[in-house]
Amino acid sequence: MTGQRVSPSEGTIGRKGIVLAGGTGSRLHPITLSTSKQLLPIYDKPMIYYPISVLMLAGVREVAIITTPEDQAQFRRLLGDGSQWGMAFTYIIQERPEGLSQAYILAEDFLAGSPSTMVLGDNIFFGHGLPELLARADANGLAATVFGYKVADPERYGVVDFDAEGKVRALVEKPSIPPSSYAVTGLYFLDGTAPRRARSLKPSARGELEITDLLETYLREDNLFVEQMGRGFAWLDTGTYASLLDAGNFVRTLSQRQGMQTGCPEEIAFNKGWIDANALRVQAARFGKSDYGRYLLDLVD
Ligand code: TTP
Repeated sequence: MTGQRVSPSEGTIGRKGIVLAGGTGSRLHPITLSTSKQLLPIYDKPMIYYPISVLMLAGVREVAIITTPEDQAQFRRLLGDGSQWGMAFTYIIQERPEGLSQAYILAEDFLAGSPSTMVLGDNIFFGHGLPELLARADANGLAATVFGYKVADPERYGVVDFDAEGKVRALVEKPSIPPSSYAVTGLYFLDGTAPRRARSLKPSARGELEITDLLETYLREDNLFVEQMGRGFAWLDTGTYASLLDAGNFVRTLSQRQGMQTGCPEEIAFNKGWIDANALRVQAARFGKSDYGRYLLDLVD
């Protein structure tokens, strides 16, 4: 591989990353019978490029990629050891989709006490000011930070219940009567105690270690921060046929209008100085016949 040596993450406190990319993708059957949802295309690149890009923008270079046992080989083939982007990837298997909080138990050895940023492999974020928002969460090293996003259909998500002063009172998983329109997005900045807390959780009625239960442990200690992602941000869902297509069209519209990429790991790595021009040229040459490859070449030449 052609990248540069990986040093500890740039963030102030050595934050490590997790991409949770297991699950069954049952709402996308039969498409996801033979492949992982997170490997499906969002216009011109695999879905998982987008969440990895978010971690990169947060300055995180050491990342664990959690997948099903069946899909791990394909992720390895796509992403390798991460050095092509100046990163280091570790692969971890989740045998069964037993909940988002289980990721912290599976990644406990990898994290080795470090604070972490976890992003769900099917979450796409876009917006001016995203790096600044991520930097603020990163700086808050002794607690938990999550992001609230106003949605039209909060009953499908974990929802924030605010009190009259706008303080978080509770988080409610998929409420039939939502206490607000603010969904908790799939991006979590937690401190080094997350694995220990996750181990203390009991499975919910649907048999999962719920992320809302893990976040509640921070809330009880008054250590949960909910940052609002305002209307200038897009948080896109990719879990259904229609939302998958909408996300692809969104990325296509942006890239055609601006002539700029969204969620392009090579570009972020180059801009951050994690890879040099030669390494970028090597990447571009791999994709020489595609517009993606030509875009990478234009960045250096
Ligand atoms: P979901 O969309 O809740 O589940 P899914 O991806 O299996 O899809 P479906 O509901 O159609 O069956 O998962 C959100 C993200 O979290 C997605 O990227 C998969 C991932 N995930 C895991 O990796 N492990 C888990 O145990 C769970 C619950 C989700």
